[in-house]
Amino acid sequence: MRHSVDFLIIGSGIAGLSYALKVAEYGKVLIVTKSRANESSTKYAQGGIAGVMYSPDSYEKHINDTLIAGAGLCNEKIVRMAISESTDRIKELIDWGTSFDKEKDGSFRLGKEGGHSENRILHHKDKTGKEIERALLKSVKKHTNIALWENKFAVDLITQHHLGHIINRGQADITCYGAYILDPKTKKVETVLAKTTLIASGGAGNVYRNTTNPPIATGDGIAMVYRAKGMVENMEFIQFHPTSLYNPGEKPSFLISEALRGFGAILKNHKGEPFMEKYDKRGSLAPRDIVARSIDKEMKKSGKNFVFLDATFLDSEDLIQSFPGIYAKCLSLSIDIRKEMIPVVPAAHYTCGGIKVDENARTTISNLYASGESSSSGLHGANRLASNSLLEALVFSHRSAKDAIKRVVKIKHNDLIPNWDDEGKKLNEEMLLITQTQSELQSIMSSYVSIVRSNLRLQRALDRLGLIYRETEELYNKSVLDVQLCELRNSINVSYLIVKMAMQRKESIGLHYSMDFKPRKKRS
Ligand code: FAD
Ligand code: SIN
Repeated sequence: MRHSVDFLIIGSGIAGLSYALKVAEYGKVLIVTKSRANESSTKYAQGGIAGVMYSPDSYEKHINDTLIAGAGLCNEKIVRMAISESTDRIKELIDWGTSFDKEKDGSFRLGKEGGHSENRILHHKDKTGKEIERALLKSVKKHTNIALWENKFAVDLITQHHLGHIINRGQADITCYGAYILDPKTKKVETVLAKTTLIASGGAGNVYRNTTNPPIATGDGIAMVYRAKGMVENMEFIQFHPTSLYNPGEKPSFLISEALRGFGAILKNHKGEPFMEKYDKRGSLAPRDIVARSIDKEMKKSGKNFVFLDATFLDSEDLIQSFPGIYAKCLSLSIDIRKEMIPVVPAAHYTCGGIKVDENARTTISNLYASGESSSSGLHGANRLASNSLLEALVFSHRSAKDAIKRVVKIKHNDLIPNWDDEGKKLNEEMLLITQTQSELQSIMSSYVSIVRSNLRLQRALDRLGLIYRETEELYNKSVLDVQLCELRNSINVSYLIVKMAMQRKESIGLHYSMDFKPRKKRS
């Protein structure tokens, strides 16, 4: 089957949906998403979205906090641009129907998280992402120019490569003509020709065993762009959230929002002692890389698998009103957060690097944009400031939409593109080959490429990845396509990029901490 659209969007989280609403007046839009429409990291966002709303906060303060969290590797021009657009983008989100918590006087009830010098997080209790996803999807479903394909899987971007041309990474004239999309029900791959394509496929937390990310986060978009010879950067900066609920075997790990620390909760060790001040004067609200590393150290010292977050001394009525999701989840495990400390452990949470984009979210491939967690815009540097990712997605989807609307009128479909060829491919009858490799991959990444790294650990990871890469490519080349096999292949590809980029960075900085290199400098 062949289809032609003006705007193809891969992913239905905040990045994909907000872009769709902007371009829909200017042509035919298709959103392809591999699960149900609302299944995305966006849906699970708890803390909220950072933005400057009132004094005493200011753009300058938010810019400064972002730069400090990023440990010197943010692109300051991009930080200034994104933060100064925060107020407008958030107002737009509200116009699309998102509701944020308010004080009695009607002003927004602004929360605080690690690394923020002011209260500036707009939220909907502790279910902000669910509310955003609800509002955006409702508007998208009403728009007659937008088609939404659920449970369809984007396999590969279409470029000159599919016309038989040889292309090299970073080459200036690579062009994207759309994407090949797998229908898992029929096992057929459909050709979608698109004048412009947006990758909004989210992050890659599932390359680790313990992650807060839903199962969809397998780095597909990043791997697709890398295979299409586009540029990917900063993949070594994987953010571990300091506080996921310690509940062995639960997947994904349930997040205990940093907003709870912003509300006053304090990290404690097994002796019941607060420990963060030993590591950083900002205590439990230091930037995430510092808190996660400190917890890791405390766990290694005590030999325990978790530390505690203590909220027992806070106003219990306000606590359960503000964090109903966390309260209910903990209670379901017989932990009453009003009376008992919460066992917490760091978990892989956010992919700071990704597809390299410019200020208009253009990738290094023509007619291809990327926005949200799959992209690397320069906003986060070596460590993302809490609640800046929903904002980043809104800013870059807005800017790419404006750019794509201007350019789409000059772009023609390329009708010479061939359909997907699966001649001679066989059904893979041994799922074990996929599930076992998936588990090996998560084990390699969790053991050797986690919060603390070393040259030796990274080399071990690279050697082991080489083996499963070769085995999986062999299986892929002879099999009829299947979602799990494609996800595994993408996850291996993304893991390789994380390890390679970590090995190239000869220093400890932000989220990349190596025992072989001293940290560059102190940040505060
Ligand atoms: P996502 O929302 O992840 O959407 C990706 C979409 O792409 C999904 O629809 C997926 O199905 C689709 N997709 C992926 N691959 C394919 C494929 N091959 N084919 C078709 N479709 C595909 N950030 C904040 O700023 N504030 C917070 O409070 C916050 N809390 C968080 C809490 C949790 C538990 C998690 C996991 C993350 C949190 N984050 C938070 C991070 C933030 O939620 C994400 O970075 C952001 O939502 C990413 O949005 P996105 O649109 O880029 O991707
Ligand atoms: C949280 O609520 O702690 C998550 C915020 C984020 O990841 O930005």
